[in-house]
Amino acid sequence: MTKPVVYAGSFDPITNGHADIIRRAARVFGAVRVVVFNSPCKRPLFTVQERMDLIRQNTADIPGVSVDSFGGLLVDYLEQNGLNVVVRGVRGPADAEAEAAYAHANRLLNPDIEIVWLPADPSLCFVSSSAVRESFSYGRELPGYVSEQTARALRAKIAAVSSSRHTKGPETK
Ligand code: COA
Repeated sequence: MTKPVVYAGSFDPITNGHADIIRRAARVFGAVRVVVFNSPCKRPLFTVQERMDLIRQNTADIPGVSVDSFGGLLVDYLEQNGLNVVVRGVRGPADAEAEAAYAHANRLLNPDIEIVWLPADPSLCFVSSSAVRESFSYGRELPGYVSEQTARALRAKIAAVSSSRHTKGPETK
């Protein structure tokens, strides 16, 4: 059986940029394990389970995709699962600089790890999950940044978050 390449991230939520990297990685490597990392430093909009469900929905037509989650270091996930190849999407020079540091740190932790970069499609170079979250939270949608399934989930989540804020009433000191 082909060992999957790992595509790790927050995916809060999965965008068309992420889906493009997954599709192309599946073509190159045969199998992709998309891993949702739950970082204690981030306050995500979607739960890990919701992010995993959205990834499954957005990649249902791509053969060889599996979805997992982890809380901890990337190297620990790789070692625990007997995997050592990671794919990263690079949108431009800023990503390349950050990715060089990320690859260096991970290879210091485990020199058997290989991190492979795929250049983002030029039409998706400005896509980011935080831009999506921000625009949807103000009722505006960035065309082409997310799939219709993700857009639906965003609308529902933002409506739920804002109605729970309203029912709580005004903040008191
Ligand atoms: N298309 C669109 N957007 C992309 C993208 C692509 N191809 N590639 C990255 N992005 C965006 C994401 O949407 C996200 O946008 P946002 O910041 O505006 O929300 C941003 O790039 C960063 O992605 P994110 O997944 O949140 O973080 P990351 O790429 O910096 O890495 C982990 C996340 C989980 C892979 C990384 O933090 C990790 O390995 N964590 C585990 C702990 C660890 O091992 N740390 C390293 C120690 S050496």
